[in-house]
Amino acid sequence: MAFRTIIEPFRIHSVEPLRLTTEEQRREAIRRSGHNLFALDARDVLIDLLTDSGTGAMSRDQWAAIQHGDESYAGSPSWHRFADAVRVLFPFKHIIPTHQGRAAEKILFSAVGGPDLVIPNNTHFDTTRANVEYTGAEAVDLVIEEGRRPQDEHPFKGNMDLDALDRLLTERKGSVPLVMVTITNNSGGGQPVSLENLKGVRAVCDRHSVPVFLDACRFAENAWFIREREEGQGGREVADIVREIAALADGMTMSAKKDPLANIGGWLAMNDDDLAERCRNLLILTEGFPTYGGLAGRDLEAIAQGLAEAVEHDYLRYRIRSTAYLGDALHRAGIPVVRPIGGHAVYLDARALLPHIPPLEYPGQSLAVALYEAGGIRGCEIGTVMFGLQPDGSEQPAAMDLVRLAIPRRTYTQSHIDYAIEVVTAVAERAGDLRGMRIVSQPSALRHFTATFEPV
Ligand code: F0G
Repeated sequence: MAFRTIIEPFRIHSVEPLRLTTEEQRREAIRRSGHNLFALDARDVLIDLLTDSGTGAMSRDQWAAIQHGDESYAGSPSWHRFADAVRVLFPFKHIIPTHQGRAAEKILFSAVGGPDLVIPNNTHFDTTRANVEYTGAEAVDLVIEEGRRPQDEHPFKGNMDLDALDRLLTERKGSVPLVMVTITNNSGGGQPVSLENLKGVRAVCDRHSVPVFLDACRFAENAWFIREREEGQGGREVADIVREIAALADGMTMSAKKDPLANIGGWLAMNDDDLAERCRNLLILTEGFPTYGGLAGRDLEAIAQGLAEAVEHDYLRYRIRSTAYLGDALHRAGIPVVRPIGGHAVYLDARALLPHIPPLEYPGQSLAVALYEAGGIRGCEIGTVMFGLQPDGSEQPAAMDLVRLAIPRRTYTQSHIDYAIEVVTAVAERAGDLRGMRIVSQPSALRHFTATFEPV
């Protein structure tokens, strides 16, 4: 490339106005929301980096595909277009559509989970962990040591610790129905898993005759990192890398709200006929008939088209470089962030930035609230609020206290991101003034969505 500037490889076709607010209005809004950013009205948010899930912009061709949506209850042409598009990248025998990723998780773990069982993962996402634990099974995270140290540089910090996996499969022989690998590792900083590591997981699981399932939400970003960082992969098509990843697994769960560039949808896929039949029966109970699984025909069309766009190199180059643009600028400003920068988000290390706030006073929550008050930026705590509550009701500090600034796909421009850099930098400059939080009320599971807080 002759020029350094990475441009958005699209131009704007339809605009959505943003509503500007004052700091005073935002202080009032967050107080009314019990200092929980999930409780805010989105119209009170200026730059919404809460999640990259379902919040991206669809393309002209996706909107056009929506017009082809066929709403037949069974056997719709849109179903075939969806299943064919999934199989181009993930050629599993059985494709089971669901309304989003956690529905696929709920069905899968209802089928294979249960008391006394254990499900390892590099790092379980919160809904995955909750769906495992809901069946009485134990969810274990086995990411490599580097993956737990925010400042360590490593090209594939999402990798599974293969020795730990081997030990677990030996010690808990007969109690592990499947091994999950999350690509990219969202809860560990959006960090990729290498092809070599995936082959290693496959080999360990083969030795113990245990199936491997992918939590593949950000498969295209993970494959791009493999292309960029792994030896011998640089000349390959991302779609080929994705197919190689799929061939290393026995099945997958997916949220189409991430890399497939849709606003809703997901699927569960596998090769095992018997498991597929059990899952389809559960699907009919809770999601819908197996050719639509809780989705409209038009949603299936949007996902099919999105999958083709998700593996385009110009898009992925822009996607990964623009996330790094935010993270690298904050790093250069001396703000502690998870290194290297992940695919879909920048993770601020709140525990390092706010050493005066103990983990059980939720430094991540405190930072997230401050970013909103200062600049209308909504991020998401990924730390002790999200993971600290134990199944027995006790509380422990999470491995890290992070604030995730997730970047919706194809949605914000470089000036929005420049503004975000300015806001984070201004808040970091007065980090010493921030105070911890105390929980006022909370539910018994997934508390981060609805808990309320007050400053200590
Ligand atoms: N697995 C991973 C790795 C995820 O990041 C998510 C969702 C899911 C499963 C569940 O999918 O939302 O369609 O039910 N992550 C979103 C996030 C919510 O903000 O990271 P879903």
